[in-house]
Amino acid sequence: MNKEFKRTLVTSALPYANGPVHIGHLAGVYVPADIYVRYLRLKGKDVLFIGGSDEHGVPITIRAKKEGVTPQDVVDKFHFLIKESFEKFGIAFDIYSRTSSEIHKQTASDFFLKLYEKGEFIEQTSEQYYDEEANMFLADRYIMGECPHCGNPNAYGDQCEVCGTSLSPTDLINPKSTLSGKAPILKETKHWYLPLDKHEAWLRQWILEDHKEWKNNVYGQCKSWLDMGLQPRAVSRDLDWGVPIPLQGAEGKVLYVWFDAPIGYISNTKELLPDDWEKWWKSEDTKLLHFIGKDNIVFHCIVFPAMLKADGSYILPENVPANEFLNLEGDKISTSRNWAVWLHEYLEDFPGQQDVLRYVLTANAPETKDNDFTWKDFQARNNNELVAILGNFINRALVLTKNYFDNKVPALHELTDYDKQTLDEFSSVKQTLENYLETFRFRDALKEAMNLARIGNKYLADTEPWKVIKTDRERTETILNIALQITANLAIAFEPFLPFSTEKIRQFINTENLNWEQLGNTDLLPVGHQLNEASLLFAKIEDETIQKQIQKLLDTKKANELKESKAKPQKENINFDDFTKVDIRVGTVLECIKVPKADKLLQFLIDDGMKKRTIISGIAQWYKPEDLVGKQVCFIANLEPRKLRGVMSEGMILSAENADGSLSVIQPSAPVEPGSQVV
Ligand code: MF3
Ligand code: ZN
Repeated sequence: MNKEFKRTLVTSALPYANGPVHIGHLAGVYVPADIYVRYLRLKGKDVLFIGGSDEHGVPITIRAKKEGVTPQDVVDKFHFLIKESFEKFGIAFDIYSRTSSEIHKQTASDFFLKLYEKGEFIEQTSEQYYDEEANMFLADRYIMGECPHCGNPNAYGDQCEVCGTSLSPTDLINPKSTLSGKAPILKETKHWYLPLDKHEAWLRQWILEDHKEWKNNVYGQCKSWLDMGLQPRAVSRDLDWGVPIPLQGAEGKVLYVWFDAPIGYISNTKELLPDDWEKWWKSEDTKLLHFIGKDNIVFHCIVFPAMLKADGSYILPENVPANEFLNLEGDKISTSRNWAVWLHEYLEDFPGQQDVLRYVLTANAPETKDNDFTWKDFQARNNNELVAILGNFINRALVLTKNYFDNKVPALHELTDYDKQTLDEFSSVKQTLENYLETFRFRDALKEAMNLARIGNKYLADTEPWKVIKTDRERTETILNIALQITANLAIAFEPFLPFSTEKIRQFINTENLNWEQLGNTDLLPVGHQLNEASLLFAKIEDETIQKQIQKLLDTKKANELKESKAKPQKENINFDDFTKVDIRVGTVLECIKVPKADKLLQFLIDDGMKKRTIISGIAQWYKPEDLVGKQVCFIANLEPRKLRGVMSEGMILSAENADGSLSVIQPSAPVEPGSQVV
């Protein structure tokens, strides 16, 4: 389908306002969307870029409860933090609003009502868990119990985090409400469902036949959903945080967060353009694009389109360029485990270096598969690419012009073959860049832009104007004229990717009005044009700086391990008398041998201060018998003797058990008399 579009509406997923945003968000969604939008703006296209916070949903209510604040407090805190992070990274939204706004509640509520009145929902009553003490139905996350698959006693109603199985609350053995700790009861409740099965036929045609050009990862996920067959999906929940269901008798029910959130794109457009929003959403000559991460594909390619179609007055997305995930130093980014590079922290640690992160995240974007962010790669790309190629070239072109030609663009004289060849090389950059950008291949596009800087860098290295100036002023003028034209081109080519640096370049070359159509032109700066004082665009990042960041992650890892190493629950209390009944002593190992035909057992002969006693102990997997001879061990002396493998064991040697089940024998920290009591 090659439609002609008059305008482009770009949306980017509304991040949940239950935590700050991190590099994964930026790499997967916001930087690609921003690159695309900046490119269209530079082309003079009519484009709108919509963003905002997703402020409903159960995780927000859980966080609020944990912190003893209201859900509104939670979203207020994070909405503004997220908004500020995006602003500082130059994500150039036309509006960044939020789903707790009045206009959104009204819009989402009306949207539901229209579908309800058109008969687009089915109503169904089912049994769900209810907490009689808290007087409320329990969202899946508010129910815990034993996982039927692995026996984990702390599985959630939607998932067991130990074995990874998706669950539904009724799968849990001995379910408990996390609110009251009591067992919930099953109670009937009514909900509204969007019958996706009824939409399957047109969705198949629309995606699988009419949009074969969608990215493989997106098309593939849609196909597998469609091939499994679509089921009706509930669009309401029993919850007190969200957009109330606007029907009588629906007290205590709200729209499911995934129903109201995408409508947020519409509400935010309305908020920005109260009189003019409809042409962006309802006119066939608008190209609608959703930038999202892969976990959002089904909602944007199947559920939301079905909602829009059910309404009947909206256009459908033309493309949904979803990315895969970005990992961090080999591990999945996780808000709850604090395994992330938070944008607000990066801004503090690397002030003024937003473009470096934008560059690295684009160069390494998870466009076709999951990718890994490492600090070493971050450093290498900054030092070897931004500093050594782009920054170095522009700095040399400008400093030489200042030194030789009083900071004015010098004249262009006769061109050598090499000059022509160089100019030729970057005349094709525009077309190549456009092809990549139009198909959301931002990594390739960035590589192409960088290639232009490489050409420039090589041109100066080969022509050596700093030598030529000594003998041939005219030739030097030509060389630097060409270098400056390349510089102006770089200001255009990099603008979508590195908005802060290109703004600086435009300032250096004293030109504000550059547009995309000029890319590839070799006369952007007229002869005699006055340039401004330049400064360095990028600075080398030292090992020490990187080491600090790596250390920060190592600290996080350690903290997590401590948190996760679950010590066994403490046994019931005993009184002091009970304790004194146990006679624990130190003895010296005289002999130690393996018990024949028993892999786990060692047989000890111990000097206990009075006599030699035999003890059998199950530690053969972890110790060589000869290594223990002469060592001191602790043992329970008054444990009733029992026969093990035909040998009478007179006591028990004490060991500590590690999380992995391995055993470590307990020893006094300094030698003591055999027979000493442990008190
Ligand atoms: N908050 C969701 C997430 O972070 C994305 C919502 S996108 C919207 O996964 F379309 F629903 F707004
Ligand atoms: Zn499990």
